[in-house]
Amino acid sequence: MASLVRSVALRALRNGGGGGGGELLFHTALKNILTSPPQTLTVRAFSATMSPPSKAVLYDQQGPPDLVTRVVELPPVEVKENDVCVRMLAAPINPSDINRIEGVYPVRPEVPAVGGYEGVGEVYSVGSVVKALSPGDWVIPSPPSFGTWQTYIVKDQSVWHKINKDSPVEYAATATVNPLTALRMLEDFVPLNSGDAIVQNGATSIVGQCIIQIARDCGIHSINIIRDRPRSYEVKEKLRKLGADEVFTETQLEVKNVKGLLANIPEPALGFNCVGGNAASLVLKFLRQGATMVTYGGMSKKPITVSTTSFIFKDLSLRGFWLQKWLSTDKAHECRKMIDYLLDLARQGKLRYEMEMVPFDNFHTALNKALGKLGSQPKQVIRF
Ligand SMILES: NC(=O)c1ccc[n+]([C@@H]2O[C@H](COP(=O)([O-])OP(=O)(O)OC[C@H]3O[C@@H](n4cnc5c(N)ncnc54)[C@H](OP(=O)(O)O)[C@@H]3O)[C@@H](O)[C@H]2O)c1
Repeated sequence: MASLVRSVALRALRNGGGGGGGELLFHTALKNILTSPPQTLTVRAFSATMSPPSKAVLYDQQGPPDLVTRVVELPPVEVKENDVCVRMLAAPINPSDINRIEGVYPVRPEVPAVGGYEGVGEVYSVGSVVKALSPGDWVIPSPPSFGTWQTYIVKDQSVWHKINKDSPVEYAATATVNPLTALRMLEDFVPLNSGDAIVQNGATSIVGQCIIQIARDCGIHSINIIRDRPRSYEVKEKLRKLGADEVFTETQLEVKNVKGLLANIPEPALGFNCVGGNAASLVLKFLRQGATMVTYGGMSKKPITVSTTSFIFKDLSLRGFWLQKWLSTDKAHECRKMIDYLLDLARQGKLRYEMEMVPFDNFHTALNKALGKLGSQPKQVIRF
């Protein structure tokens, strides 16, 4: 009985604790298992294929991610007839993963939980009725799904999307949360034509780098704002190589007429803000009459202040975007096609962004970098 409870509870955990009346029971059982001394697993009475044991980043409570996460060994779980067992290859640490562990993200798994929300893996084994996937295939959870920071995951076949194995592993691991956000925000708010312009802050983020490149691919100019830093010219140069037309540090924009800094770029009708505070006001300064600013992140944790004149004389619109909400709309049935398109761009070298692959054993160093404790760092991608 103990092994059955362990199997069921861990399965619930690996599946992201996704709702259902038995969730409380599962989590109570799981808590007991995680805190009780190891027990001997007994062989199940019926035939079942089991996953290998898994190494996972687990948190038992919400709080500071560097304090509440720990790497644990999880025992094998049953691979049922519709399930696919995936050996994870890589998964990123995104700001929203951190916010979920902190307990400040609106949608998050019940604790105890395994961290992570996107990633890529190789099919290790399939349940008896699974025909569309075979061992060796590369898959991503699509839409993304909780619990990707572990070496083996067992989930229903419907969770997994088979991708082209020629995709670079780090791009396959990161294709959804940030590139898809960039694509949707460019297409869903203001109709843009070749020759138009957009303005954004947080241009060094993965979303920001994707916006620059997808915009450039459509002939759209980008005006980019970055935080001040030593040797900012190096970062500016990197972004220009990706296709950025203009890159400014925040202090460069402490002038009355920012538009005077632009040469032949038209005033943008669309702006993106993932920082807040003064960096959001700088985006607003560039926007033309009737333009829209879309807020999708709040990295500075500071509120957005909008001048009265922005509303009265420019009639600006302030909107928001949240991928998780978009993924629950009808439009999301196109999600897998969009991911294939973005991975095609990555394979062709038309979509690039800075990442650092980190061995799983160095998870906590990667986490500290992702938390900003070591200054500005590239996206941390765990290699399992
Ligand atoms: N709404 C949605 O659906 C959605 C989807 C995807 C992402 N996002 C959000 O988009 C943002 C970027 O995500 P990402 O994964 O692309 O980022 P990322 O690659 O992890 O990069 C982090 C970015 O945040 C900046 N940053 C970090 N701390 C900051 C601070 N205290 N003040 C100002 N800027 C700071 C960094 O700038 P430096 O280079 O100067 O360090 C860098 O540009 C995040 O807020 C994330 O939550 C939202």
